[in-house]
Amino acid sequence: MKETKIITAALPYVNNIPHLGNLLGSHLPADVYARYCRLNGDNVIFVGGTDENGAATEFTAYKEGITPKELCDKYYKIHKDLYAKFNISYDNFSRTSKDIHHKLVQEFFLNLYTNGFITSKTIKQPFCENCKRGLADRFIKGTCPHCGYEEANGDQCEQCGSVLNPIDLINPYCAMCGSKNIIFKDSSHLFLNLKSVVKDIENWIDTNPNLRSQVKSLAKGWIKQGIEERCITRDLNWGVRVPLSEYNEKVFYVWFDNVIGYISSTADLLGEEKAIELWKDKSVKNYYFVGKDNIPFHTIFWPGQIIGEGRFHLPENVCGYQYLNFEGQKFSKSKSVGIFLDEVVASNIPIDYWRFYLTYILTETKDADFVINDFIDRINKELIDNFGNYVNRVLNFIYVKLNGKVPEIKQKDVDLEKQISECVERINGFYSKIELRYALYDALKLSDLGNKYLNEKEPWKTGDYSSLAYGYEIIRLVTLFLSPIIPSSCEKIFDFLNTDNKKLAFDLRSIKDKKINKPEILFTKLEEKDFDFFLKSKK
Ligand code: MF3
Ligand code: ZN
Repeated sequence: MKETKIITAALPYVNNIPHLGNLLGSHLPADVYARYCRLNGDNVIFVGGTDENGAATEFTAYKEGITPKELCDKYYKIHKDLYAKFNISYDNFSRTSKDIHHKLVQEFFLNLYTNGFITSKTIKQPFCENCKRGLADRFIKGTCPHCGYEEANGDQCEQCGSVLNPIDLINPYCAMCGSKNIIFKDSSHLFLNLKSVVKDIENWIDTNPNLRSQVKSLAKGWIKQGIEERCITRDLNWGVRVPLSEYNEKVFYVWFDNVIGYISSTADLLGEEKAIELWKDKSVKNYYFVGKDNIPFHTIFWPGQIIGEGRFHLPENVCGYQYLNFEGQKFSKSKSVGIFLDEVVASNIPIDYWRFYLTYILTETKDADFVINDFIDRINKELIDNFGNYVNRVLNFIYVKLNGKVPEIKQKDVDLEKQISECVERINGFYSKIELRYALYDALKLSDLGNKYLNEKEPWKTGDYSSLAYGYEIIRLVTLFLSPIIPSSCEKIFDFLNTDNKKLAFDLRSIKDKKINKPEILFTKLEEKDFDFFLKSKK
């Protein structure tokens, strides 16, 4: 049945250049799934954007000596252009600094407030006597009480991962001026009362049949630790203002506003009224693609916000991805570990190769490692020797020996047709369950089947060309199923095939009276020297 689906990818912060792990953890799988659903005839709305508010932006701008707006403008453009170069087919890539976003966040908050989900509390808040300002999250640093790391942030220690409050820090200092002249002042803040909905959230986690077990167990682990009320306001200048007179010096905590960015990105695309209508509609299913560290926010806090606010419904699925490492290490710009997307687009390696390999190692169930030699191997063996070679063998034969005319099937091969249909069914099944890695593996198996069939039938010896007619249909199918993953290459193959038959099932209709176009060599093998761009820059 054809459905309307809203597909989202986590909104990246605007203080960095994304790396391959960021791409693999949200934008790429969201794109592959969106492209498959479109092929399947679904009405897809694929939205994303940049996550621009909050302490991280204000602090990075301060460090770079520019305004937050300048910082956001700069990085918005960088992110948008990079994802476009990777062929991420966003219907809209918006920004949380847009007016429509601010408006929808304030409305969302007021609904929570009216529904009784917001409480206020006075907490001790750090203030730098030198800078004369409140120090939220990253503006205050100090020694972590758990591991002794001396540069822990006010909200989290990067070394041991513990979640902190500024008051926990030993020897706190101002991250801007370095002053230790910090006092703690009473300040009233707003809290989201998650406790009252935690049972509903847990029930949704338990009964949602789509959540992968890794996602489920992470979410359950958080609930087990105890869900506290969450402070949703901050003393910052840059962000969405709290629409209550008593609090209008404050802005919302970034993890309160950014998730609403999915809705505001839709509104930015389709207009507010239509967007709200779609998000309210229970028959419209919502799929969120997020990296591992975003899982709790999408399985607990966002569902909590949704339940309290009352208009919208819970996710159909939260597709959480585990971590990607690079040659055994964590990606890090400052330590020069990993390949970043600006380097990728400046290299000579086709975008489809990266998309292919990243999908091949997609971290659906476990962490993975990006290894350059493995990348070279997979491209050369699986993409080129298997699939590329099959396309060449079949289409070249037809073009050169048969004047481009696809032959008829003289004798139906029931067994082969059955094998093809079974494989197609498996691939469709994996795509529907969003097990994209396995969809890719089975698409490659189908082309392997075609290669072996050709070897066995030896049409060049026997003069029976039925195997080439079957070959044409196998190529159509494999290309179709690979097209969400390597769209540019597949578009070219569809040109050679000279068909617009996009049916996701075995279907011999398109071979009738078919003349193909001249096939060209699609892929060139990867060599170690193709990575010179990267290895040099890291020396
Ligand atoms: N900006 C966050 C990150 O990069 C992700 C935000 S996802 C959203 O980790 F849904 F909240 F927007
Ligand atoms: Zn200071």
